[in-house]
Amino acid sequence: MRVFSGIQPSGNLHLGNYLGAIVKFVSLQEISECIYCVVDLHAITTWQDPDILKSNIRQITAGFIASGINSKEHIIFNQSKVPCHAEMGWILNCVARVGWLNRMTQFKEKAGKNKENASVGLYTYPILMAADILAYNATHVPVGEDQKQHIELARDIAKKFNMDFNKTIIKNGYKNDFFNLPEPLINGPVPRVMSLRDASKKMSSNDPSDLSRINLIDDEDLIQLKIRKAKTDPDSLPSETLGLENRSELRNLIDIYAGLCSSDRDSVLQNFGGIQFSNFKKELTDLIIEKICPIGKEMKKLMNEESAIDKILTDGASRAYEISKPILEETKKIIGF
Ligand code: AMP
Ligand code: TRP
Repeated sequence: MRVFSGIQPSGNLHLGNYLGAIVKFVSLQEISECIYCVVDLHAITTWQDPDILKSNIRQITAGFIASGINSKEHIIFNQSKVPCHAEMGWILNCVARVGWLNRMTQFKEKAGKNKENASVGLYTYPILMAADILAYNATHVPVGEDQKQHIELARDIAKKFNMDFNKTIIKNGYKNDFFNLPEPLINGPVPRVMSLRDASKKMSSNDPSDLSRINLIDDEDLIQLKIRKAKTDPDSLPSETLGLENRSELRNLIDIYAGLCSSDRDSVLQNFGGIQFSNFKKELTDLIIEKICPIGKEMKKLMNEESAIDKILTDGASRAYEISKPILEETKKIIGF
């Protein structure tokens, strides 16, 4: 088992990243070798201010560490430091089909009406993501639900490469295809955390309204304000999940509550059924402050220690390179280079 996953340094780390991905990153350390990547090459598919990008790379790294990822036993690094990603990306560009990319919903959402003016990188982005995974021959990829389609694409690319070149290797005494088909690990506390302002959209660092998300570095006052302003309806809480139908804002807040205390919707509703929405918001605020603020404070402390963070990334990159280099070399050999 080898776990690989990545997060883009294109804004603040938020509760969606935490509950959809980072909580799983942390728990997988117990059972697998883990490689966690700050995917800066992905971030530049939309324009990034160079100074802010630099600080965001450090912020994600600090977020990983403050959440409990052990950079000594596992690997944390940034993508642009390991050349194998871009090289493998080109090779897989020649394996993936245009028709496959045309089906990617994230591109359609991100490019919006302005498709002609989107970067080519934004369009081919899922192929670089496949390269990230396959360059390590990772077996498992913990992600939020929004990335499921991209992992399926990575599997299709791996399958086509295996078929096109029909090369098997011996692993643990068994004959295997060259690339593993990576398994997405979607289930987790909350596979899709929604925006606090509009529960039809996912919580995202790209949302122009900062009130739409809880950032891991938000302080107590800001968290209180954001939950107070979160969209609500006038009714009290139901005692069963059936009562959440057509109440997507409430469902989202219940999911966040359940995710943060490792519980589930049913138990949260059993506890709070019948109370006023405003009272539930107070409970939720306290829970977020209890669980998230210590992480945010640790992140801020780490972000002030720039050279220590940079050393973790450089050290991680050299270990990541040692793993991906032979896989890339073998890939090149198979192709005929
Ligand atoms: P990104 O910030 O787009 O690089 O996402 C990094 C990781 O966080 C991926 O595994 C995403 O699936 C996950 N993620 C991002 N936003 C959300 C969200 N709103 N709910 C759940 N998971 C999310
Ligand atoms: N595309 C992912 C996202 O936006 C980030 C990512 C890049 C990733 N490469 C990856 C996730 C490889 C898992 C594995 O969330």
